[in-house]
Amino acid sequence: MSNIGLVGAICLTSLCFRYGEIFKTHILGCPCVMLASPEAARFVLVTHSQLFKPTYPKSKEKLIGPHALFFHRGEYHARLRRLVQNSLAPQTIRKLVPDIQHMALKTLESWAASGQVVNTFYEMKKLSFDVGILSIFGHIDKGFKVLLEENYRQVDKGYNSFPTNIPGTAYHKAILARRKLSEILGEIISERKERRVLSEKDMLGHFLNFEDQKGQTLSDDQIADNIIGVLFAAQDTTASVITWVLKFLHDDPKLLEAVKAEQMTIYESNNGGTRPLTWEQTRSMPLTHRVILESLRMASIISFTFREAVVDVEYKGYLIPKGWKVMPLFRNIHHNPEFFPDPHEFDPSRFEVAPKPNTFMPFGNGVHACPGNELAKLEALILIHHLVTNFSTIIARATRVKCTYRSVGAGRSGRDNAKRLPSRLNRDCPCAGGHIPCLRAQASIMSE
Ligand code: HEM
Repeated sequence: MSNIGLVGAICLTSLCFRYGEIFKTHILGCPCVMLASPEAARFVLVTHSQLFKPTYPKSKEKLIGPHALFFHRGEYHARLRRLVQNSLAPQTIRKLVPDIQHMALKTLESWAASGQVVNTFYEMKKLSFDVGILSIFGHIDKGFKVLLEENYRQVDKGYNSFPTNIPGTAYHKAILARRKLSEILGEIISERKERRVLSEKDMLGHFLNFEDQKGQTLSDDQIADNIIGVLFAAQDTTASVITWVLKFLHDDPKLLEAVKAEQMTIYESNNGGTRPLTWEQTRSMPLTHRVILESLRMASIISFTFREAVVDVEYKGYLIPKGWKVMPLFRNIHHNPEFFPDPHEFDPSRFEVAPKPNTFMPFGNGVHACPGNELAKLEALILIHHLVTNFSTIIARATRVKCTYRSVGAGRSGRDNAKRLPSRLNRDCPCAGGHIPCLRAQASIMSE
């Protein structure tokens, strides 16, 4: 999962401007072909994906675990992917609605109860972690969850640090925490095996039940690496898109009112929120869904991805030599006025018509496309429902939030900027404790 800083972002846009949609450059000394056209991205990710392999720095691979599916291709990748995809398919995640709802309400409640200005992104990270844990383990023992959380946080802190593996550095601490995570996951796996709880329902169940035609099962290391991989892929991305949605709604009071009206209709049909939201209702939130899609386009949380040519490849008369990196630039495609007129305008109505093929790829494309996209959207829909129906207003304080969220050239990557949204929920319920979920409150998104 790639992320870029301000300098990289500005460079990419100006290079596209100077050299067009395909050009070569060097990143940290590695020759790299940048691809900012839908056809070229499709060539690499879909039609000729067998000519390219995923590529990540070794230091990052070590932290996630070398068996995680996104480092692989071919038979091993396809096998793992089927298991992950099945456990994140709509028919599976629909059963998670009550639990996700409970988690979303708990998050909002504790946020409001704190009365503090909090970092929205970090609050959403906690929620996404809990949802990730739920989809992997179902209902897990609290002790295990605390241990996973503590150690995962340490890995997360070290992930983007300079990879110097000497005592005292963030990277070294992350390596130690990663080892501890393997131990904890080993215990969880043994416990399940001992109890013979091999239910298919959650992702761990899918992993444990796997057996290929030769009777081969997955090793504990393979399972552990893929669990950490999924947690990693799910957390910052989902937290980021929810944070961006809140920021975009805050910036457009009319849109917020329209979203609120859509959600209030559902809320009222649930007897003033006393009946829980259903899966079917989450499928019937067209405006809110379009707001999420437009937020994904605008913020382009995964700005680009990397692949490496495994043979010499010819594309439209250009030679991509074996070993060179290629980078499909999702963000540049999402901000190309040819596909998205006035690309810097936040306009959910553009999604009333489906985008042209291969122009909208917030979840990637092809064999490595995101298997968690439905879960991420479900989590966002549920959170938004409870936020706008139970909290009276979102008020901007003082100056506008200083997020830059235009194209690559205008700001930092989606994930970086999303971290810049300090906010506060003020509980002001007239009927405190009187009804469920008693969360009428006031939300203020404050400027930095
Ligand atoms: C808004 C939230 C999310 C965004 C924007 C996002 C984006 C992406 C993208 C762009 C890729 C493809 C990367 C590439 O081709 O190199 C990807 C892959 C992946 N995502 Fe997501 N993702 C999100 C949420 C999730 C969630 C919630 C999960 C799991 C619960 C998840 C699990 C994965 C996995 C396992 C892969 C690797 C798939 C493979 O290699 O076959 N993602 N994601």
